[in-house]
Amino acid sequence: MTIATVIMAAGQGTRMKSQMPKMIHTLNGRPLITYAVSLAEQVGDIPPVVVIGHSAETVRKAVQVDARFAIQQEQLGTGHAVLQAAALLKERADYVLVWAADMPLLTAASLELLLETQKQNDGPFSLLTLFTEKPRGFGRIVRDTSGALQAIVEEAQATPEELAIRELNPGFYCFDAEWLWRVLPDLPLSSKGEYYLTDLVALAVERGENISTSEIADAVEAMGINTRAHLAEAEALLRERINRSWMERGVTMIDPTTTYIGSDVTIGLDTIVLPNTHITGSSTIGAACTIGPNSIVRDTEIGDRCKVESSVLEQAVLEDEVDIGPFGHLRRGAHLAAGVHMGNFGEVKNSYLGPGVKLGHFSYVGDANIGARTNIGAGTITCNFTMDGQKHKTSIGTDTFIGSDSMLVAPLNIGSRSGTGAGSVVTKDVPDDALAVGVPARVIRRFAKDG
Ligand code: UD1
Ligand code: MG
Repeated sequence: MTIATVIMAAGQGTRMKSQMPKMIHTLNGRPLITYAVSLAEQVGDIPPVVVIGHSAETVRKAVQVDARFAIQQEQLGTGHAVLQAAALLKERADYVLVWAADMPLLTAASLELLLETQKQNDGPFSLLTLFTEKPRGFGRIVRDTSGALQAIVEEAQATPEELAIRELNPGFYCFDAEWLWRVLPDLPLSSKGEYYLTDLVALAVERGENISTSEIADAVEAMGINTRAHLAEAEALLRERINRSWMERGVTMIDPTTTYIGSDVTIGLDTIVLPNTHITGSSTIGAACTIGPNSIVRDTEIGDRCKVESSVLEQAVLEDEVDIGPFGHLRRGAHLAAGVHMGNFGEVKNSYLGPGVKLGHFSYVGDANIGARTNIGAGTITCNFTMDGQKHKTSIGTDTFIGSDSMLVAPLNIGSRSGTGAGSVVTKDVPDDALAVGVPARVIRRFAKDG
């Protein structure tokens, strides 16, 4: 049994009032189109077919997985949209699931229910329906006195009696593939001059064929995005869904409404995420950490028992028991080994800070390698960018003490168990067990080595 998927995404989405097609507006940091496509990957057996039209190339680029595209030059209706997928899918599948890409809160569980419904049906297709007091412009499900489905009537064409119907069509269908491709070309033009996919209901009924329905479990899944206000509502609903699931898995959030977690993030047991915190991209957080408040963690790997307060971390790695903040900034390639302490106003880029390194107050460390337990005094700067326009490296050994306000002019090597005096400008290498001071710094003392 091969299951194919068709995603309708050819419309422009005029009500977004945007120069971009609706499908590339983002929800929780991801283009809308990617939600439908990931669902399709979960439930389908072959790459999804995405029907595109308006700004086709832009939408195509936003789909970053294996998918096939059918171009609908003119948007002549949902029936016409699905017809464009025929050439790509004929004789390749037994079932075809169809839905519109502007419903990002739909879940795989509902599509599985739809598929199950059709598997039990000896008629040509099944659909999900929704009972709600807010009809939101959806088509009405019209049944006869025995309860059998008769037609779907679009709101614009509905009689007052039909308008009062509270069973609605959210637009999720599962077809017998052979039937769909055979009958779809027979769809009549509607009075609005479009080919309505929903008119397949009446076509099947005329032929005495059965259409099954199942009720969608949660009305939230049928929330369509048509305006920016809808987008904000969907953000809140999705946030609630994601955060509830993390809480169920042992993460504490004291205010889930202001906690923003990306869909690919992972968080360990007993971690606390405090308000106004954004954890996004490929970030992974270990167990028993406290992250936030007011922090941004992007594509960063954090170990266990770390603490991050009011800080921005991007493409960084923190091993266990690292503590940062308030007001720390880690940039690409910052790697902080176990037990590193980084206080306020530190910036670290493309550098390794060994176990137990302390960087307490306003320092910049770039392109450096710092050995275990070394102390970086307040205001220390690695002057890695020099007048020749090049970036140079700084290396500092273990157990070294860099005095406050040291300027370390790279390329530079400072040894282990050494020191620099406060305010020194270090332009020449400092060996192990030595103290350098002054501007420019010179070695004034050698420490006796133990033993
Ligand atoms: C459709 C259903 C309606 C249902 C509603 C749920 C029809 C005729 N009606 O109405 O019963 O309650 O969805 O949202 O199907 N699209 C294309 N090409 C087209 C037309 C549409 O790709 O030629 C895409 C749009 O980008 C959009 C989706 O299909 O994402 C829905 O199209 P739209 O015309 O807005 O249908 P609705 O009026 O919402
Ligand atoms: Mg519409």
